[in-house]
Amino acid sequence: MSETQPLTGKVAIVTGASAGIGQATARSLAAAGAHVVVTARRQDRLDDLVSEISALGGSAVAMMANAANLEDVRAVAEETFAQDGRIDILVNNAGIMKIAPITENDVADWATMVDVNIKGVLHFLSAVMPHMVKQGSGHIVSVGSVAGRRPFPGGSVYAATKFAVRALSWGLHLELGAAHGIRITDIQPGYVATELLSDQPDTLEAWNEAWSDRRTLQPEDVARAIEFAVTSPDHVSVSEVLIRPTDQPT
Ligand SMILES: NC(=O)c1ccc[n+]([C@@H]2O[C@H](COP(=O)([O-])OP(=O)(O)OC[C@H]3O[C@@H](n4cnc5c(N)ncnc54)[C@H](OP(=O)(O)O)[C@@H]3O)[C@@H](O)[C@H]2O)c1
Repeated sequence: MSETQPLTGKVAIVTGASAGIGQATARSLAAAGAHVVVTARRQDRLDDLVSEISALGGSAVAMMANAANLEDVRAVAEETFAQDGRIDILVNNAGIMKIAPITENDVADWATMVDVNIKGVLHFLSAVMPHMVKQGSGHIVSVGSVAGRRPFPGGSVYAATKFAVRALSWGLHLELGAAHGIRITDIQPGYVATELLSDQPDTLEAWNEAWSDRRTLQPEDVARAIEFAVTSPDHVSVSEVLIRPTDQPT
């Protein structure tokens, strides 16, 4: 292990790596020496990221997958294992946020959030966990949210999905920590400037206005927290990281 590249020899899968927090995390883990499998639905973006990481001397491959589709997800884990023989780190980051008053009763949006934010996380857990159990080591990082501690109006269902991530992470530590040497981390960001609201222009405009004189987090700030967790010594499980903009009043 090189002192400057603490993740040399490690294999990491980063979900939702085509944008925002996942993209920044892939860059940071690759710079720390990991071989990074970047996955999401947008292949062109993943290919660009792989080229960028490779040009900087890092190691990455792209594997397209819809996190809501178990077969896609299994294919990512199996191909990674076939190519690299191990899976050390899973960053379960892919997620979506649909904001609307609960009275709009948009059950289709609720279902999509459950499919990606909960089932997607479970799909990657299911596909990767057997390899980590066999290895007797591994680290599963999930990107939850401050909303997984405290819901907000318009975000009740989103918050429910992030409470689920928190509950799951707590349980995984109990079941996989001492027994299998697998570390679990729930990263809980406050507001990060990403594309998360790009499909909801009215909400995005309102949030941009509310934040016009406040500093948000950047994806790299969250990536640094993830890097801290995964580069901590093996006997240290950084179980939760709540990371908010200094200017976030909630
Ligand atoms: N931004 C914030 O303020 C904030 C705060 C707290 C927590 N978070 C959480 O951080 C995580 C990353 O979000 P972000 O802010 O970085 O948003 P983003 O810029 O919109 O990135 C979301 C990523 O998730 C991927 N994704 C979405 N649906 C997917 C699906 N069905 N299958 C596979 N990948 C999918 C997207 O890729 P494709 O579209 O290419 O599939 C994209 O790479 C999410 O879990 C979010 O809930 C964000």
